[in-house]
Amino acid sequence: MKKKTKIIIITLILILIIISYGIYLNSKKLILEYTDNLEVLLNQEVYNLDNIKEIKNGKIITEKEQIDTTKISKKEITIKVENFFKKIKEYKYTITIVDKESPVITFKKELEIEKGEEINLLKDVKVEDNSKEEIKAFIEGEYDINKPDNYKLYYIAEDSSGNKTKEEFILHVKEKKIEEPINHPKNNSNLNSNNTNSNNNQSSDKTFTTKKGFKGVTKNGITYIDGYMIVNKTYSLPSTYETSLTKETTNNFNKMKSAATLEGLNIYISSGFRSYDTQKRLYNNYVKRDGVEAADTYSARAGHSEHQSGLAFDVNTINDTFASTPEAKWLANNCYKYGFILRYPQGKSNETGYKYESWHFRYVGVELAEKLYNNGNWITMEDYFGITSIY
Ligand code: DAL
Ligand code: ZN
Repeated sequence: MKKKTKIIIITLILILIIISYGIYLNSKKLILEYTDNLEVLLNQEVYNLDNIKEIKNGKIITEKEQIDTTKISKKEITIKVENFFKKIKEYKYTITIVDKESPVITFKKELEIEKGEEINLLKDVKVEDNSKEEIKAFIEGEYDINKPDNYKLYYIAEDSSGNKTKEEFILHVKEKKIEEPINHPKNNSNLNSNNTNSNNNQSSDKTFTTKKGFKGVTKNGITYIDGYMIVNKTYSLPSTYETSLTKETTNNFNKMKSAATLEGLNIYISSGFRSYDTQKRLYNNYVKRDGVEAADTYSARAGHSEHQSGLAFDVNTINDTFASTPEAKWLANNCYKYGFILRYPQGKSNETGYKYESWHFRYVGVELAEKLYNNGNWITMEDYFGITSIY
């Protein structure tokens, strides 16, 4: 063989060896197939290596471990792999923990009350959810406890991921049944709701001046101070005083409702005028349930409820949760423009005699309402006029 031919053959063999080695190395290339973003459900059992589909020519050196999926969150996971030549490479991917489960509501499908009876529709409702996030629960639908009817309403519960549950229930408002009298402890004469102190003198007018210098008059058992009808624990109405919501109250409520509607809010009267007898039954039921002392903090005795005046009403849900709704916030800041006051403001129970009621409003006219609103720092009627509210 000629020398030249030899060199060519050797060169060709070398080239062939290099190509074969290249093919060999390529066949040993590390291949890791995995999903970039793994979406898992809250509380699902998931491991850090769950997203790996295939590995070729290497091994995973990260240890398998369980991922905490008890909170809605995103987690960055790192996986280390080692190739044929002991070279370590890191792969990163994200696990997104999402909640797709709706809350579960346990409730009574049918509720029944008598006309005029206040009810807390959320009281015996239980809402459970798989997430530890805050759950919003509220009622949808309109009803009037003073109009006997069968109202179709909904319980709504929503978790922070927007998973919503809507359950229908019926509120039956029935006509009143015959009343059962209840016995108050006998040694406390103040518990008799007909005892309205000296201000229930029906035979003659009685005038007086309050601590803050306002003129008061009690006429036919009804007390007016500076011309405003006063109904609280000290000042009562006669049992015979029957009315309905006054025209001014209704008209101004309707104006207020229209303004609220423009703001995308829904307000409605859930309890307006209540007769002496209705209040008596309500109060007595509360006493049976919670005892006199507790009932007196949130319910008026017969003759002492502003609902009997035709100037006061409750809106929407008669429940402490109402305070945090956009409706309650808007009302507290705007009602005075329509002549209404938040009658039992927060932190004033030593003046009004009642716990905070974000749903109870009283018509007094714009002039006084604006003064009592006091730029959002409510003054009570008791403080303003210098009067008490005690039995
Ligand atoms: N809840 C108010 C105080 C009433 O019973 O009139
Ligand atoms: Zn009320």
